[in-house]
Amino acid sequence: MEQKAKNNNLYKAKTSKKDEFYTQYHDIEKEINAYLEYNPNVFRDKIILLPCDDPEWSSFTKYFAQNFEYFGLKKLISTSYAPDSKNYNTNYQPSLFEVNNPQYDIKKTKKNGKIFTLTKDKTGDGKIDVNDLEWHYLKGDGDFNSPEIKKLRDDSDIIITNPPFSLFRDFLNWILEEKKHFLIIGNINAISYTDVFSLIKKGEMWLGSTNFNTGMYFKVPPDFIYSSTYKFEKEKNGEKVNRVPGVCWFTNIDHGRRHVQLKLQSMSDNLKYSKHKEIKGKKAYTKYDNYDAIDVPFTLAIPSDFDGIMGVPITFLDKFSPEQFEIIGQGQGNLFREISPKGLSKKFVEDYYKAGGTGSIKEDHPVLGYYNENGQAIIPYMRILIKHKKPTK
Ligand SMILES: C[S@@+](CC[C@H](N)C(=O)[O-])C[C@H]1O[C@@H](n2cnc3c(N)ncnc32)[C@H](O)[C@@H]1O
Repeated sequence: MEQKAKNNNLYKAKTSKKDEFYTQYHDIEKEINAYLEYNPNVFRDKIILLPCDDPEWSSFTKYFAQNFEYFGLKKLISTSYAPDSKNYNTNYQPSLFEVNNPQYDIKKTKKNGKIFTLTKDKTGDGKIDVNDLEWHYLKGDGDFNSPEIKKLRDDSDIIITNPPFSLFRDFLNWILEEKKHFLIIGNINAISYTDVFSLIKKGEMWLGSTNFNTGMYFKVPPDFIYSSTYKFEKEKNGEKVNRVPGVCWFTNIDHGRRHVQLKLQSMSDNLKYSKHKEIKGKKAYTKYDNYDAIDVPFTLAIPSDFDGIMGVPITFLDKFSPEQFEIIGQGQGNLFREISPKGLSKKFVEDYYKAGGTGSIKEDHPVLGYYNENGQAIIPYMRILIKHKKPTK
């Protein structure tokens, strides 16, 4: 029991640490540029809300304030979360900007969130930018679930942020309650959640334009202590940053990358010339044992002329164009059960363990499985099942 409590605390400490990872300016700029390229008026006359933010730490507010006029924004609102409410103690030090403000109150600074707004040229220097941000304390702590922040959500057009990693799912549902446009950062593994995947399948949410294969570096609080779990630390411009793998943008705002179709080879050309040694020289693509589809372990090895269902790695979503492919479902868990009543056979499970499989699976387990050319039973890492909309002839 004691051990369980210890593990829970450890888990909480680990996930809450990641809740304080801050997005870098250039990563925001790169992603936003993709929406502007596709539609230069995407933000014109819009009210943008940046919740779970903090201009002292975060770059979202700075970026949008700097570009207020260029984007033609109607209003920019950003809110921060009270230091005392945070799961991870960041040793919050108020800045001079805050301390020198007549409304500064140390108690409120710790217990209340803040709201920053930008609508007009307050300084009178002829332009609207970051220097015109006005702020005051919120009534509450800035929790996105509080009525105060919900009201801001309801009144805004677009919600953009990197929400706390541990609350990603709650945050997405919070946005969807009001069907707003959004652009948020999350982990690609969130697609294993039924609600998240069904949005992607229905074409109501997609991945942003930045390729997520390399992961992203986030700024971490100055007192952040690296441990064996946080191996990829780097210091950039004197700031501590940490790499988080598998991080991507989720959005329902259109961008050009998702309308670029993949250039693919036919099945026979792949089998003859594929750059992947796992495909080149094979007689045929491997079929799953418990589902009528072929396994395609690399996105670029998708055969252009196959008209059946194909299981592809999740990195495919980075290249997904709704004009080229239809998403049928997912290859594991309840999502797989939705499209296939048949799980793994008893024999397959036995063969899987004989082949040295270490996962904990049993007969009828809802996951895709196949036999490789050596006759070994293999369960591939999460697959998305797709179909060509128009396979080439
Ligand atoms: C991953 S950080 C990202 C901060 C900033 N948006 C950025 O990208 O630089 C998430 C922030 O949300 C805050 N947060 C945690 N729980 C929250 C909640 N329930 N409501 C609002 N903000 C919360 C964290 O304290 C942290 O400052």
